[in-house]
Amino acid sequence: MTQHILILPGDGIGPEITAEAVKVLNALKVSDNLDIEMTEDLVGGAAYDAHGLPLSDETMAKAQAADAILLGAVGGYKWESLDISVRPEKGLLRLRSEMKLFANLRPAFLYPQLADASTLKPEVVAGLDILIVRELTGGIYFGQPRGIRVLENGERQGFNTYVYSESEITRIAHVAFKAAMKRNKKLTSVDKANVLEVTELWREVVDTVAKEYPEVEVKHMYVDNAAMQLVLNPKQFDVMVTGNMFGDILSDEASMLTGSIGMLASASLDENNKGMYEPSHGSAPDIAGQDLANPLATILSAAMMLRYTLGREELALKIESAVSKVLDQGLRTGDIYLEGMTKVGCREMGDAVVAAL
Ligand code: IPM
Ligand code: MG
Repeated sequence: MTQHILILPGDGIGPEITAEAVKVLNALKVSDNLDIEMTEDLVGGAAYDAHGLPLSDETMAKAQAADAILLGAVGGYKWESLDISVRPEKGLLRLRSEMKLFANLRPAFLYPQLADASTLKPEVVAGLDILIVRELTGGIYFGQPRGIRVLENGERQGFNTYVYSESEITRIAHVAFKAAMKRNKKLTSVDKANVLEVTELWREVVDTVAKEYPEVEVKHMYVDNAAMQLVLNPKQFDVMVTGNMFGDILSDEASMLTGSIGMLASASLDENNKGMYEPSHGSAPDIAGQDLANPLATILSAAMMLRYTLGREELALKIESAVSKVLDQGLRTGDIYLEGMTKVGCREMGDAVVAAL
């Protein structure tokens, strides 16, 4: 049965990088009978310019009806002064929230060919393979009340609410433990339980869920320490589970261990593994439209889509080994370029992956 994929290129480099991932998927339609149909729509600043909203109800309905979504990136200088309620990022947050995509998987995997591209010493990062499991529909990103209010003395005060209910913590913990069971059976839960009650509860609930996975070795770590350990000795980590904001920050940090944020794919899944797939990086407006962006994170996100939602593990592996092959060939976009390699643009990189399939 044909599966429907909604492509949401978004802003900045979004259209360029998603075009390359679409190229790869189209190649698989021909070579491997991948039975999918892709339609494209607007999100973020592009949607705002067209409809005055970063995600129209119509696009939201298409997303709900699709089997999976592939998204580029949202945001840019052009929309930074808009009211926060209609900023491009709100389109992305609405998709995550209304589709209940609570489990965000961000694999920080170092392709051995890129060990020298990391700013850390190759021996510190060689062999790195971390899976960050980020809670995506709760925490301080969505907590109420929130806003900017005027105090009695006339001063303005900004406020947000950091909340997690037990059920939210329980379900993301299960995702993380299940992932750990398939990997090296080590889970680090990241919190700030020495200061924040919400994460004191997080820690307690993770320990409760841990009883169902006796084989998994669980560690708790404060987020400041985790940030430090990620650059000190990143290979101590297997699976990391954390809340929405800490996960946002730590996944950017972890991505740089892999050479470039341009390599980090992600999957955002609901209870039934329906998902949205997007690179973990942003819209990079400074290099947009110049054929300079690295499309590999988006191409690898398409691989995750094949793995988690479309049930085609063999094609996911095929894409991942094609990526490895083009790195072997010495092809590098600017973000992962090192002397002696062949510098290529976004399109050329996509074409090379297709050829390597
Ligand atoms: C990410 C991004 C988003 C986030 C932004 C664009 C809203 O940084 O996916 O990591 O903060 O979640
Ligand atoms: Mg982020």
